[in-house]
Amino acid sequence: SPWLNTVELGRNLVHRHTVDSTNILAKGLAREGCPDGTVVTAEHQTSGRGRSGRRWTSIQEGAVQMSIVLRPHVSPAKAPSITQIGAASIALALESLGVSPRIKWPNDVLISGKKVCGILTEMSCELDHIHFIVMGIGINVNVRSFPEEISSVATSLALEGQDNLNRARLAADVLNRMEPLYRSFLQGDSEPFLSVCRRLSWLRDKSISFSRNGEPLSGVAGDIDDQGRLEVIFPDGTRDYLLSGEVHIGSI
Ligand code: BTN
Repeated sequence: SPWLNTVELGRNLVHRHTVDSTNILAKGLAREGCPDGTVVTAEHQTSGRGRSGRRWTSIQEGAVQMSIVLRPHVSPAKAPSITQIGAASIALALESLGVSPRIKWPNDVLISGKKVCGILTEMSCELDHIHFIVMGIGINVNVRSFPEEISSVATSLALEGQDNLNRARLAADVLNRMEPLYRSFLQGDSEPFLSVCRRLSWLRDKSISFSRNGEPLSGVAGDIDDQGRLEVIFPDGTRDYLLSGEVHIGSI
């Protein structure tokens, strides 16, 4: 891609017209020992996957669908940071287009409160060692309408006034912005991506609910701490820090 100016990310680029899921293909390549930073992209996915076992439906040929293979030498406990690095990179790329993205902790990117991008990160690891991580990114770009069930919660760049964006260029820009954030993280400095996540935090000061050990809880979202955890302030004033997981807006 003429727009890519990274050293590692996307230098080995595998593009397919149709795949089951770019994450599945990327995991296969990772197991076979593909280079770090290998990127798989596809026009169309027949069984694109989302978080919590949901499906990611690819609509026409309107989305960036890419998966990145990474082998960070950090403890598996730090893997959630990878997803936040992805969200921060996407948000920066979208900001440079002139839209106003927000990051819904831990990893959805929203515009006008609607989801424009989702990330599915999968990891193969042992207790103290990551074999590889595959970070799958889906960005709704030139999608002009959504199925009824999701139209109130989903948006695309086309619907937000960015008509006919070049998807390859956007994908390259995300990788260009990701590389320095990822390198800093590997060197022990998470501030570059965390400062983006804090500045663009969508949940901050909102009432949220979530479940912990099957128990439904609600509180108000606070800041994102230096480990990327979301602070929650409960009605009695006590605080807790969420590591990852699903958070809903509104109380129970
Ligand atoms: C979510 O918000 O639930 C995550 C959606 C992730 C979708 C992307 S599209 C590219 C990659 N391949 C997949 O099968 N899923 C991710």
